[in-house]
Amino acid sequence: MTDSQTSKRTRISLLLNDSMVGQTLRVCGWVRTFRNDRFLAVNDGSTLQNLQLVVDKESTDAEVLKQLHTGAAIEAVGELVESQGGGQATELKVSTLTVLGGADPEEFPIQMKRHSLDFLREKAHLRFRTNTFGAVFRVRHALQYAVHTFFHERGFYQLHTPIITGSDAEGAGEMFRVTTMDLDNPPRTEDGAVDVSQDFFGKESNLTVSGQLEAELGAMALGQVYTFGPTFRAENSNTSRHLAEFWMIEPEIAFADLKDDMALAEDCLKYVLGYALEHCAEDLAFLEKRELDAEKQLPQADRHDHPLRARLQAVVDAPFTHLTYTEAIDLLRNSKPYKKKKFKFPVEWGVDLQSEHERWLVEKHVGGPVIVTDYPAGIKAFYMRANDDGKTVAAMDVLVPGIGEIIGGSQREERLDVLKQKCADFNIPEDHVWWYLETRKFGSAPHCGFGMGFERLVMYVTGMTNIRDVIPFPRTPLSAEF
Ligand code: 4AD
Ligand code: MG
Repeated sequence: MTDSQTSKRTRISLLLNDSMVGQTLRVCGWVRTFRNDRFLAVNDGSTLQNLQLVVDKESTDAEVLKQLHTGAAIEAVGELVESQGGGQATELKVSTLTVLGGADPEEFPIQMKRHSLDFLREKAHLRFRTNTFGAVFRVRHALQYAVHTFFHERGFYQLHTPIITGSDAEGAGEMFRVTTMDLDNPPRTEDGAVDVSQDFFGKESNLTVSGQLEAELGAMALGQVYTFGPTFRAENSNTSRHLAEFWMIEPEIAFADLKDDMALAEDCLKYVLGYALEHCAEDLAFLEKRELDAEKQLPQADRHDHPLRARLQAVVDAPFTHLTYTEAIDLLRNSKPYKKKKFKFPVEWGVDLQSEHERWLVEKHVGGPVIVTDYPAGIKAFYMRANDDGKTVAAMDVLVPGIGEIIGGSQREERLDVLKQKCADFNIPEDHVWWYLETRKFGSAPHCGFGMGFERLVMYVTGMTNIRDVIPFPRTPLSAEF
């Protein structure tokens, strides 16, 4: 045994094949099971797989043996040997075993049985220790890496847009206020109103709902940029697809129109799905099986037609279907659920599509991703470019099965006079967005972009059905524990 071999910890992902057999190694991890007083299954987070440690009862301290319960943190030194059992290629013949931190089996909540996701949400500080959450968060990491790689390889620059902002980019007014004022005793003006000029920034400020407006400013010089940051929305919708704090990827490209925008969105989705299929095969295989098991409880009609990886591969392989909003409305009004009055929300030109409509389009009608374009101006944000018909804007939403909207984007209004009129129509004071308007005054150019909800992407790739299970610590109405 040499110091260099054992002073460094070897991650379990590196020693599951037999290339390191014969070496003496140090591994650390958390106990999953201990059976027959001999076989210790240890996981260190580097892979879904556990390493089997073979413990010699005779030569191991009785105090150590007593503490080998599920959840305990251990450190072991031993020789890596070819495994005698069938379950794994290699195992570690332990020579020294130390318990770094015990886990009282009476109290440790994560036992080796299947726990419900609801239960694990209450134990979010410990749920990383399960196979499911280990897999989800490794895939989440791979996806963010793939996103950065995709944009970097295409010559985009990442722009860090502000988290604290004075503007409401989406105009939905669902913002979290940021203030250092004493809420019990705020400074007041002579007429009794709260005096925001005395607040930290000298004006009302909020957490951002989108980095888009600032990304547009960057794109108007750097050509193509993207943001990847946290966004905050105080919408009181307690659904399985909404968070109050979520991460969004927002590319913005100059000298480009809606067609370019759709192509970029499709390429981006295909690239990151392909990356996950290639680099997360083990975790996706596990999540696929998990989904199949979970769906056994469901009626046939509610189950997926194809397993997870086959569904993702199909998205990578086929071109996305394009529909205009007007076509989508026609299809919906001719659909069975519409005629049988199964939809809860109205289907009428001018009214926004609800998740039930989006899901019918992608799941029942098309059976794959759909890009819906050219929405009525009245239901979309002020910055979207007006189409020549005077009724619709150059918007596009990418809808996918199981999720609904995963991407929302548009060509931006680059004509100063039209944009000013839009501000007036949407009651946005020009002096609030004077800097945004100036990019239309100085060297304005056609440009476009989109926002991809990162957690919706992680849901899509992992097959998890609740957005709370793909972000480490979800923020939802009445819930900000941990
Ligand atoms: O459609 P949205 O609101 O678009 C924008 O914010 C634009 N500024 C984007 C742009 O053009 N640069 O949001 C974009 C995406 C949605 O398609 C959805 O995937 C996700 O962000 N999203 C949410 N994800 C989780 N929780 C929420 N509350 C979300 N709201 C939107
Ligand atoms: Mg949207």
